[in-house]
Amino acid sequence: VSLIDGRAIAAAIGEDVTARAAALRTGAPAVVPTLAVVVPTGDEAALWYVRSIGRAAERTGVECRVLHLPGPSSAELSATLREVSADPSVHGVICQTPLPAGLSLSEAGGDIDPAKDVDGASPVSLGRLAAGLPAFAPATAAAVLEILRREQVPLTGARAVVVGRSIVVGKPAALLLLAENATVTVCHSRTTGLAGICATADVLVAAAGRAGFIGADFVRPGAVVIDVGTNPTPDGGLTGDVDAAAVADRASRLTPVPGGVGPVTTMLLLRHVVTAAESAAQDSR
Ligand SMILES: NC(=O)c1ccc[n+]([C@@H]2O[C@H](COP(=O)([O-])OP(=O)(O)OC[C@H]3O[C@@H](n4cnc5c(N)ncnc54)[C@H](OP(=O)(O)O)[C@@H]3O)[C@@H](O)[C@H]2O)c1
Repeated sequence: VSLIDGRAIAAAIGEDVTARAAALRTGAPAVVPTLAVVVPTGDEAALWYVRSIGRAAERTGVECRVLHLPGPSSAELSATLREVSADPSVHGVICQTPLPAGLSLSEAGGDIDPAKDVDGASPVSLGRLAAGLPAFAPATAAAVLEILRREQVPLTGARAVVVGRSIVVGKPAALLLLAENATVTVCHSRTTGLAGICATADVLVAAAGRAGFIGADFVRPGAVVIDVGTNPTPDGGLTGDVDAAAVADRASRLTPVPGGVGPVTTMLLLRHVVTAAESAAQDSR
């Protein structure tokens, strides 16, 4: 198997993002591309992810404002997301998951202005994606497609199987693959004969959040396997949904965890912020 270097792909995207952010900052009028991150819990993994977004933002010239709002009510979260969406100095808004018990991203996402919905959380964004209209796809789903494109994996007519149907990963990844003319099957926790279905895939996308459960019998020889899973290990590390050692003799290419989809996701989020800032700058001219 050949491992796909997500960090190298992220660095290449980062060069483009950095150049575009610099052009905005020095343009007339000068615009500082700005991302607002609303963090509604103290979840450790979420805080770690938000810090990594902040570091990548700093490197690329995107301003990142983090709003900690521990344990908000539904009304408080809604008001905050609407307020940051209405702020003309903010170009991108994300609501970091997990949300406090009882709140759902499908509902909260509706409070983000679709023009600033850089992580595709709004039902409007998902609807536009399904309708083939311009929209920001969730960054993780976009990362899956960006990796496949940069690796020049043929998608037209290819059989793609996505394991997972969440609105942040599985469903939008399936829509994006469909838009590239792949023949797409979406699997989930009630799917019967999962391994057999996965074994038909030319492109297998694992996004179930189950450590190492994609074994050799899930992988057709020669398949390209994209591992979206990020499962915490007892030693504080991360492991994917794919048993990398077990599939090594069967997959042709595989994204490692960490160092695969994750870094590309973060950089695409920043690219979306710069794209949103460019549109806003154009509208104001
Ligand atoms: N790398 C990144 O940047 C990034 C970003 C976001 C998420 N992730 C990771 O990606 C994974 C998925 O995230 P998510 O937010 O989509 O998770 P999620 O909301 O928990 O959804 C998981 C999906 O997988 C399905 N599933 C669970 N167990 C399964 C099984 N044994 N067999 C088949 N399907 C199964 C579920 O089916 P049902 O719908 O039937 O319940 C659900 O559709 C997680 O590990 C998450 O940490 C990574």
